[in-house]
Amino acid sequence: MSLTDLFGETADVVPQGVSLQRSVFSMEEISRQFTMIAEVLALSPPFRPCMRNGTPFGHDISNCGALGWISDTRGYRYSRRHPETGVAWSPIPAALRDAAMAAAARAGVADFVPDACLINLYGPKGRMGLHQDRDEADLTCPIVSFSLGADAVFALGGLERRDPVSRFTLRAGDVLVLHGPSRLRFHGVDRLRPASGPRHAILPEGGRINLTFRRAG
Ligand code: SIN
Ligand code: FE2
Repeated sequence: MSLTDLFGETADVVPQGVSLQRSVFSMEEISRQFTMIAEVLALSPPFRPCMRNGTPFGHDISNCGALGWISDTRGYRYSRRHPETGVAWSPIPAALRDAAMAAAARAGVADFVPDACLINLYGPKGRMGLHQDRDEADLTCPIVSFSLGADAVFALGGLERRDPVSRFTLRAGDVLVLHGPSRLRFHGVDRLRPASGPRHAILPEGGRINLTFRRAG
């Protein structure tokens, strides 16, 4: 499976359960989304999680929604509270929640109501290793992912780590939904193209924001 096989002009077979929705959001909508994210971050400040072995992540995160994804020396999990302030996460802004539900519906999932939105704040050198999302209670609910800011070279693999990986660019305003037989595909971010995409004061040195909406509880 190569980039062009999957999503290029020659693509004729997109794997079941992968929905790549290009340019869903206009620049005006993206700018409103930045404002909503800045408001969330004012209540739930970005923090730097670490792996179980204590190694810090390469980027900051925060969350909104009833549940927020965190990682520390006790491992990956969902929490109702910010790990540093102890304050409950703020609700997912209605416009973002509705946009995530609409994206799921376009992918063919009619009843998705997210209770968790992870905010990944990547600096210019941001990346994320290949992983599966499997900390949620019900792994049949989709993953809906929004890209904002700089372009990312996204890596999408199969259900086994050793499976072949396709790479394609996610740009600001693109939405990716993984559901059904693709819900547990390995995925990651190889690198950003830091000079690309709309900028915002949230990331003064440039970078990318990813919003990942999930049903966690
Ligand atoms: C993630 O898998 O948590 C984030 C993916 C992305 O940044 O697009
Ligand atoms: Fe993920």
